[in-house]
Amino acid sequence: MHNQLTPWKDKILFTPGPLTTSPGTKQAMLRDLGSRDTAFIQLVRNVRSRLLEIAEAPKDEYACVIMQGSGTFGIEAVISSAIPQDGKLLVLINGAYGRRILSIAAIHGIARESIDYGEEKPVDPASVRQALERDPAITHVMAVHCETTTGIINDVAAIGGITRAASKRFLVDSMSAFGGVPLNVKKANIDFIISSSNKCIEGVPGFSFIIAHNEALAECKGRARTLVLDLYAQWEGLEKDGQFRFTPPTHALMAFSHALLELEQEGGVQARAARYAKNHDCVLRGMRDLGFTAFLPDALQGHIITSFCYPNHPRFDFADFYARLNAKGYVIYPGKVSNAACFRIGHIGRMDTNDARDLLSAVRDTLVEMGITLSGS
Ligand SMILES: Cc1ncc(COP(=O)(O)O)c(C=O)c1O
Repeated sequence: MHNQLTPWKDKILFTPGPLTTSPGTKQAMLRDLGSRDTAFIQLVRNVRSRLLEIAEAPKDEYACVIMQGSGTFGIEAVISSAIPQDGKLLVLINGAYGRRILSIAAIHGIARESIDYGEEKPVDPASVRQALERDPAITHVMAVHCETTTGIINDVAAIGGITRAASKRFLVDSMSAFGGVPLNVKKANIDFIISSSNKCIEGVPGFSFIIAHNEALAECKGRARTLVLDLYAQWEGLEKDGQFRFTPPTHALMAFSHALLELEQEGGVQARAARYAKNHDCVLRGMRDLGFTAFLPDALQGHIITSFCYPNHPRFDFADFYARLNAKGYVIYPGKVSNAACFRIGHIGRMDTNDARDLLSAVRDTLVEMGITLSGS
């Protein structure tokens, strides 16, 4: 237990979220604000407007909808609201989050098709064109921007060009990339893009948000398969009187509003991406020097999160490695790659290369404690 007499330092979260947030963002939550308070309604209006700016989505063509719950709630809201009863979804899969999209479509009884590229390959836009030519019943296409399973970044702008040329709607799960990977949503021909409060904007968990093209959003009217995840009704409520249909995460929104201010002060998405890229370069170089191998080749590796293979050493035990790093104040993340033993180190959140170097020293000390010598360390 911490009380005011025991100072403590939070562990640094090298994870894909929840992640380390700034003191200012944490402080911004320390208020009680009623959900119908005009200050809160104004804050929500500002947040929605600033998210459109970050997406480079013109305000007369796109709308921002905030949905309570984690990122998956936003994804399920879009899938279950956008695709009509006679529609068909093509899912482009190269990791666990792509597979989850397919599961959501299955639960809602949505007709679906998928292309699985394996976890070591990016989505191939040419294959999307061929799939659309082969199956004219497909009405919607969905891809993951940064597949957090490995850290691979898919070229959503190239896929968007193909879906637009074929007059299909394009849905993007940009959970771990939005705000940390520059993207012009209009130029990329994206109809719905989803992210959440606790990723590259560096807020705390509590909600997801969706940037939707007005025409695509209008089509959602009457299509929802659930009450709470009805994207159109949620948008309509927010537009009508600025209020949520159900209790909003007021504190998470206050924190997020401050986090957006800090993103602006940092220099916007480009500057944030540059900081994350430096974190990534520092960790990758340092881990290689210690004898670790990244799962992906450099050409495919994005700057959001990196998967490292378990070292081939009899004394390496991930649970022990994780616990020892945790005790030193550094939280890494288990792997999600299906056919390789990996762990992950995230590069997003309120941290810089000093933190990355501290993590690397802790990894070095941990290997010594475990009696592990890798070629390189
Ligand atoms: C690409 C991607 N999609 C979906 C999710 C799910 O988000 P949540 O756990 O907030 O529901 C994540 C979480 O890390 C993610 O990285």
